Amino acid sequence: MFSNKKKKDSQERSEKSAVDLQRIPKHIAIIMDGNGRWAQQRHLPRVAGHKQGMEVVETITKAASKIGVKVLTLYAFSTENWKRPLDEVNFLMDLPVKFFDRFVPELIKHNVRVNVMGDEEQLPKKTQEAVNNAIEQTKDCDGMILNFALNYGSRTEIIAAVKNIATDVKNDKVTTEQIDEDLFAKYLLTGQLTPYNDPDLLIRTSGEQRISNFLLWQIAYSELEFTDTYWPDYLPENLYHDIVVFQQRDRRFGGIKTQKGENESK
Ligand code: FPP
Repeated sequence: MFSNKKKKDSQERSEKSAVDLQRIPKHIAIIMDGNGRWAQQRHLPRVAGHKQGMEVVETITKAASKIGVKVLTLYAFSTENWKRPLDEVNFLMDLPVKFFDRFVPELIKHNVRVNVMGDEEQLPKKTQEAVNNAIEQTKDCDGMILNFALNYGSRTEIIAAVKNIATDVKNDKVTTEQIDEDLFAKYLLTGQLTPYNDPDLLIRTSGEQRISNFLLWQIAYSELEFTDTYWPDYLPENLYHDIVVFQQRDRRFGGIKTQKGENESK
């Protein structure tokens, strides 16, 4: 009889062995949803779900970096999340402090660089400090980028990009003729992630099938996967499974398949 741990390990190994290591999605973005429902199911306060969610961030970060993902973008706090009860908001603002306090040495060991995108100025000072310290401490790591979307909203990001381009046009730094998709992408917060600005794969946990103001420009050609698993239950084997599903998709980017099976834009 298999113990639970042995069963889990063997499931993880079998999902992992199905992954084609030559075709790993370079940029994976995740909407980590279902923390509250996970806690509710266990008659625990909602914040217990966020706490467990933080543990999962650690596990999934390690698994993603080991398998060769270049950028892992995690939606940790949206510009809409301020509407939650103050206690919950405070708890969520404390999570990066706890997380980086404990996990930065591990990140460095795994050669993972921290990046944060979102309106930092609205964050409490201690959160800002924790984030900036983590960015500084991991700045020389050149493996995977762990990119937290923190106080992030995609529409705000797009408006800011438009305003910055308008200013640059006014100051003769850019001409209107120069404005194209490539230039626009540079003005977005994901401009820092070049050449992996756009996610290849977007995963949302918990069964909800919404984008919730996340990376609206960047996901134009991303593969979308919605899984019923709540984020605190999301294991490396779930990640491997989602990567396998991604690898079975036929990505054409609006083009057609050539006879050789390569993509050709129309
Ligand atoms: C959505 O679940 C989740 C969040 C708003 C917070 C996500 C944050 C974490 C997983 C931890 C982040 C860790 C670090 C290190 C910053 P929900 O609360 O909306 O769940 P529900 O839909 O079931 O209520």
